[in-house]
Amino acid sequence: MKTILLSLLLLFCSFSVKAQRITPDVQKRADSIMKYMTLDEKISYLAGTKDFYLRAIPRLHLPEIRMSDGPQGVRDKLPSTMFPCGMLASAMWDRDLVYEFGQGLGQDSRTRGIHILLGPAVNIYRAPMDGRNFEYFGEDPYLSGEVACQYINGVQSRGVAACVKHFAANNQEWDRYSVSSDVDERTLHEIYLPAFKKAVQEADVATVMSSYNLLNDVYTSEHPYLVTEVLRNRWGFKGLFMSDWGAVHSCVPTIINGVDVEMPGPDNLKPEVIMQALKNGIISEEMIDVKVAHILRTIISFGFLDREQKISVAPGQGLNTNETSLKMARAGVVLLKNEVDLLPLAGKRVLVLGDNAAVIAKGGGSGAVSSDHVVSLLQGLKNLKGSNLKIQSMLGVGFITDLLYSNDFYTDESLSQHGLKASYYKNKSLNGKPDYECVETVTDHDWGDNAPIPGFPENNFSLSYTGVYSPKKSGTITFRGSGDDGYRLYVNNKLLLEDWGNHTFTSREKALEVEAGKSYKIRFEYFDSTGTACMRFAYFFDDEEALKASTRNADAVVVCVGFNSGTESEGFDRTFDLPSGQAELINKVASYNQNVIVVINSGGAVNMLPWIDKVKAVIMAFYPGQEGGTALAEILSGKVSPSGKLPFSIEKQWSDNPTFNSYYDNRVTADKRVQYSEGVFVGYRGYERSQVAPLYPFGFGLSYSNFQYSDFVVKKLQGNNVEVTFKISNIGKRAAAEVAQLYVGDMKNKAFRPAKELKGYEKVFLKKGESKEITIKLKDDAFAYYDINSKQFIVSPGEFQLYIGSSSQDIRLEGKVSL
Ligand code: BGC
Repeated sequence: MKTILLSLLLLFCSFSVKAQRITPDVQKRADSIMKYMTLDEKISYLAGTKDFYLRAIPRLHLPEIRMSDGPQGVRDKLPSTMFPCGMLASAMWDRDLVYEFGQGLGQDSRTRGIHILLGPAVNIYRAPMDGRNFEYFGEDPYLSGEVACQYINGVQSRGVAACVKHFAANNQEWDRYSVSSDVDERTLHEIYLPAFKKAVQEADVATVMSSYNLLNDVYTSEHPYLVTEVLRNRWGFKGLFMSDWGAVHSCVPTIINGVDVEMPGPDNLKPEVIMQALKNGIISEEMIDVKVAHILRTIISFGFLDREQKISVAPGQGLNTNETSLKMARAGVVLLKNEVDLLPLAGKRVLVLGDNAAVIAKGGGSGAVSSDHVVSLLQGLKNLKGSNLKIQSMLGVGFITDLLYSNDFYTDESLSQHGLKASYYKNKSLNGKPDYECVETVTDHDWGDNAPIPGFPENNFSLSYTGVYSPKKSGTITFRGSGDDGYRLYVNNKLLLEDWGNHTFTSREKALEVEAGKSYKIRFEYFDSTGTACMRFAYFFDDEEALKASTRNADAVVVCVGFNSGTESEGFDRTFDLPSGQAELINKVASYNQNVIVVINSGGAVNMLPWIDKVKAVIMAFYPGQEGGTALAEILSGKVSPSGKLPFSIEKQWSDNPTFNSYYDNRVTADKRVQYSEGVFVGYRGYERSQVAPLYPFGFGLSYSNFQYSDFVVKKLQGNNVEVTFKISNIGKRAAAEVAQLYVGDMKNKAFRPAKELKGYEKVFLKKGESKEITIKLKDDAFAYYDINSKQFIVSPGEFQLYIGSSSQDIRLEGKVSL
């Protein structure tokens, strides 16, 4: 039966290959350089240097090639544009704007002399806890692939090589260095590889990065199937394959089946070990040549040997990246709930509070970016021109690092100067006389890999804050210390909280009863050893009376909650629950005021069940970039209608998620293997199968307008090509954008295929009363599944259902086609 079916199959899926960058001329030039390279030079070329460089070979005029993270902005020593995170870029469902985002990243890279930008990150979202979801493009392989391609096209259009990462199945941060993602072949090809494949075959991505995790028990930096069979042989990738930082674990297997370059340096691809393997005949010089050719061809094809990478863009010239960042935030923020049309707010007294009200939250790790200009939500509301909103804020309701907010912190017992005395040391043990002293009023620093003060080392420094806390009111104050690395707090010379050691970002909290008018001696200490340096000393004075009075006195309250670079980051998984105290705060505020709007910063779903029924409106802001506050204020006030749609499903409770039983290693033996036992039924594919309704489905997002869909025509063209057309009309009261989504369901193979899968989308902006006709073309890959017998994508003849929806659950038009 199988053979008959296979012989009946229509065309095997084809793929379109863009004009290749690596032309015969490029190959010839690389070959001629290689002729002059000594074996030692070739071997040394297989590992990076100085953290972020491919090494130079001055004798052959081969320059150093500089790389930089990261996906949402150039992570450099100098500040650069902090664009919204990858998840927001995906939530825009706007190919042109993603392309512009890529151009912006490319421009920022060029002005800093960066040759290779380490993005996009395209791993699939399986569960909300993955600490890197914010960098990725969501749960759907088609959407992720489309976003990845436009991103890469944009970056590479500016003469910068993009790097698609992390190849592959890096879908959790928990135990990321030693966990094996165990994924069956079909699931791998249908869910976890398509975005990479598209990046290679459609966007001609220059470089690919391996992942930390193992795939089916083999490290991805040395994976015969993943690298040799799939990436090189099937997909025809001719560019540079590099390791993630520290993700190489062997020499010989890596040379035979793995990366071309070990980053950041030669830990396993050590010259002496490679030489010995060559002498023993386990590897050949041709194998080394193949790798060197991949590197040389890539850098030649970008012109890195012929021009300066660093360019200057005069002010007012080039792309206005701040504007791009703003346009993205406007287009990607998702309105999830808007009961009784509370939004947009007009003529109201609006109170703004919560941990993230006065900051612009961002995700952490290599995806974090520092900008010299950010607009918080509170600032964005205050900046609004011509608005009739009355904005008030109450910042001390969440944890706060602005000491002037309470005005109860002083530099010494005389209580004459506000703030705390900061003493910086050029050693990590607060030894000797401070090397720099000043008074600080905001105790929140994210130095990344940089020195805290000019002239200081980037690592191995320390800092203490000293002074006096003298409250005007009696009550409970909770202190929170946070840091990467160690921190500790003494009050009246007694240790109150600590996490004093080398570690990634952690937080500790401790409450203290205080009496009005008394003085409490404060000493907060911090040190950085290596890597990222980041610290916070925050406090929260629980003033229930003041909260009640202010919230009751407002027409609406905006509660800004969610994560930040310390709580959602690479290197660890986050909680599904909002950070401590935030759900309680929402409930408390909702008990005093009926018009609560919750604005969430996160890379994915959070647990909304404890409060969702008590609030009127919810906005998913993700990490909206340096102009995020401007865009949010425009959406709250109605200047802009929201048009983002969720790139992932939001579950009511974690146990509803299709990966609930397969996200962590649930085996009794700690063998560090995560079985992706849900198979292809991840995200909405899984919810539709289990028929458990999510709280908010994939593709969902509200607008301030309404849209009507009509005139659906399905046309079968030659082969398995299909064209669909339909009309969208803006029948609401104002101009707005809508995202029309096209899903395909294989009616014959319902048993083993998802009920429907996203295969096309279009975002249209329509004036009030305006209509537009939309055409989407589908090729045979839109109907295909991966057949493990023939090891290819195939289309099984039969009937396919076509759905046009405003979300995956809000289907407006349906049609059929037989192939
Ligand atoms: C991350 C990569 C990043 C690299 C260099 C690693 O920890 O996984 O995504 O590009 O560091 O910063």
